[in-house]
Amino acid sequence: MKLFNSDYFTYKNNELYCEDVRIKDITDNVDTPVYIYSKRFFEDRYNEFTNAYKEIKHRVFFASKANYNIHVEKLFDEMGCGIDVNSGGELLRALEAGVKPENMLLTGVGKTDEEIKMGLEHGVLLVKAESLEEVHVINDIAKQLGKTAKVAFRVNPDVDPQTHPYISTGLAENKFGIDSTVAVDIYLEASRLSNIEICGIDMHIGSQITKIAPYVESVKKMADLIKVLKSNGLNIEHFDLGGGMGIVYNEETPFTPSELAEAIIPVLKETGCEIFFEPGRSLTANGGVLITNVLYTKKNNLKNFIVIDASMTDLLRPSIYGAYHHIQPVELIEGREDLKADVVGPVCESGDFLAKDRLLTATKRGELLAVMSAGAYGIVMASNYNGRRKPAEVLVEKNAFRVIRKRDSYKQLIENEL
Ligand code: LLP
Repeated sequence: MKLFNSDYFTYKNNELYCEDVRIKDITDNVDTPVYIYSKRFFEDRYNEFTNAYKEIKHRVFFASKANYNIHVEKLFDEMGCGIDVNSGGELLRALEAGVKPENMLLTGVGKTDEEIKMGLEHGVLLVKAESLEEVHVINDIAKQLGKTAKVAFRVNPDVDPQTHPYISTGLAENKFGIDSTVAVDIYLEASRLSNIEICGIDMHIGSQITKIAPYVESVKKMADLIKVLKSNGLNIEHFDLGGGMGIVYNEETPFTPSELAEAIIPVLKETGCEIFFEPGRSLTANGGVLITNVLYTKKNNLKNFIVIDASMTDLLRPSIYGAYHHIQPVELIEGREDLKADVVGPVCESGDFLAKDRLLTATKRGELLAVMSAGAYGIVMASNYNGRRKPAEVLVEKNAFRVIRKRDSYKQLIENEL
């Protein structure tokens, strides 16, 4: 079977390490399943991203929905990265991480009045509006608070990002943003509201995008719209391109940050705007693994099954998107054969699998497996279904590790019930 080796997760003497920490040294101290992250990966990806755009005025806002552990957010904040928050809960997390509100964007297709109020009271850099009705609500709330709300509209450029339909967001059929054909009228109406200050424009066409063309197409459409908006006297200081940059889970061949930068910088320059980005997955996914223990192995007439202690409640992506996550042993044992198996969890659903018909090294009860590329949309999508406790998270820095989130306790599972 093939092994995923990187500068951050490597085998030394047949044992998997995260940076300079032996994974086994972590699991000797922390229960499995457990998420383990490489700090250096997060730093390298952020630096690579921001360096790709150094010739233009830009800011990067980490999309915290991808991995909102407050220690992870703190790390991005300390590097000078802003944070994109999608709810009151994410706003609170960013505040807790010490992020200044002026370094946050408040996003979301269905913000409640309470969330808008939170954003305005704390003074986030801007609130993104996704409809004409919403901008009126933002105006009313700002008026009540005696504030002026800085607003950018999310515009749907109607471009196919060529990714999984569940994570496509920039097509006319998707619920996100306002229609580009009526954008000028909506902007003009919003600009007349007493407590709204229009400051920019935003797009986000989807996630796990591996081709440059959809970005080029949408950036061009948006650049044309920006020209029209500006000629109508509207203040468009910044253009937010969203996130969506794809990564390697298996055999994808995504573009690098500098390849995308090279393709779009000329158009971005023409807009005269400061450029914002909201990457999530590309900054964290391949910096995280989910380590799980093999509970049982069995086979029937058709298949081999490896039953592990992690499940769809810990890493949901394979169940809901049929997503591929590479799985490999934590310890390589000489002479072990390969075996085709389904890697399944303890939850009572046939959809509870982390891999189907996967060729892996045969493993035995008590051995550990590493589920790769789990640093984005992993723990954040975990649930307590089947009474399961969400796993702990561990951050590795060089030869040291620390638990940055404890595993749920049994007490926590019932404490909200009155
Ligand atoms: N900005 C906005 C407005 C977004 O909605 C998202 C992701 C991002 C930025 C960051 O996108 P990224 O760079 O991470 O692709 N749960 C799915 C992904 C959902 C993405 C939702 N929005 C998955 O596991 O693949």
